[in-house]
Amino acid sequence: RVEDGVRVFELTAQQGRTSFLPGTMTTTWGFDGSYLGPTLRAERGERVAVEVTNGLTEATSVHWHGMHLPAEMDGGPHQPVEPGATWRPSWEIDQPAATLWYHPHPHGQTEEHVYRGLAGLFLLDDDASRAASLPSEYGVDDVPVIVQDKTLDEDGELDLDSDGNAVGLHGDLVMANGTVGAYHAVTTERVRLRLLNGSTARTYAFGFEDRTFDLVGTDGGLLARPVRTDGVRLSPGERAEIVVEMRPGETVRLRSADPDLGGVAAPFAFGGNDAFDVLELRAAAELAPSPEPRWAHHDTGPDEAAATVTRTFELQDREINGRRMDMSRIDETVTVGETEIWEVRNRHPVPHSFHVHDVQFEVASIDGAQPPPELAGRKDTIYLEPNRTYRLVMRFEDYADPDVPYMYHCHMLLHEDEGMMGQFVVV
Ligand code: C2O
Ligand code: CU
Ligand code: CU
Repeated sequence: RVEDGVRVFELTAQQGRTSFLPGTMTTTWGFDGSYLGPTLRAERGERVAVEVTNGLTEATSVHWHGMHLPAEMDGGPHQPVEPGATWRPSWEIDQPAATLWYHPHPHGQTEEHVYRGLAGLFLLDDDASRAASLPSEYGVDDVPVIVQDKTLDEDGELDLDSDGNAVGLHGDLVMANGTVGAYHAVTTERVRLRLLNGSTARTYAFGFEDRTFDLVGTDGGLLARPVRTDGVRLSPGERAEIVVEMRPGETVRLRSADPDLGGVAAPFAFGGNDAFDVLELRAAAELAPSPEPRWAHHDTGPDEAAATVTRTFELQDREINGRRMDMSRIDETVTVGETEIWEVRNRHPVPHSFHVHDVQFEVASIDGAQPPPELAGRKDTIYLEPNRTYRLVMRFEDYADPDVPYMYHCHMLLHEDEGMMGQFVVV
């Protein structure tokens, strides 16, 4: 609804029952339903508010992943929502069109709350995204695909025990939008899939057995131009928008197969050496024409040369710069209006997934080299291969607040919960 020029959404976190497998009911959490939540959608320049009600019996929070917004609206561990309470953040959409998402972020419990099912998409639109020749009829040729994996125990309940597992909660039951063995009925020559790795630990490599596709967008919005590729790797929290061509009457499978994790010691634990079907695309006997994705826009992202500050982040064990998360400690203080380089070093034989709140960054270099084209756009989360250094450029435009921090952390959620997170304020 729109009230006094503000687009108001309502979300209620609640417990329910979901059937992932025939004949099995599983206790799950969702927003306004038993699993996942509604897709929220707003326009650049619009003012939005979300009434978040906690219908659970424990505190949670809701964070707007990828959104540029004031720290007190961010929904991190400093904005808990108690059972029965309603929290009403409000902000102005001030960033390019993108596929963002929302999920809980309670201190030390993020993995469990997301794994139980609390997550949803938050799509942003603008004039440039409308002008690009992309399939854009939601649910028809513009399809959200939230990919997650689970383990069910013998009673059909979610296995919430990650003890002794250094990676976190995952499993061999892979689902799209909460559905195992999902399919989509295709009626157009091209389909745009908005992929979100909504898993807590597993990294995927998405693609098709028999065709390439166009990668058109990443975390923070459209790429400068489409990139033809045969696969896209997504670590927890990352998104990709892809456009795939279909022929009449055919069935095509979106799969994840053997992600190249970049020299990880025990790849299976992180999703390596493993393959799954994710979503079947079933084309009708006749398909309506869709335009070829084609545009070029020069999105002037933050420029490395404009950076005035370089910070270093060393990731090792569950620590960043030798420290674990402390809610009462501010790790970094950023001056509003500055452009900064964050040099992130993975000092570990295992991968991590580095995420920064509030901003979208550009990847300036990886071990001194140009990033590949799929990392050339605006990002808020990046997969860190073992023993590599990533230079990220970001600009902290506005929203100074000395009292309320934003987070940066590993988006492998067990790692986050175990303390691989730090806090920064913009002043
Ligand atoms: Cu997607 Cu700090 O989270
Ligand atoms: Cu976030
Ligand atoms: Cu990690």
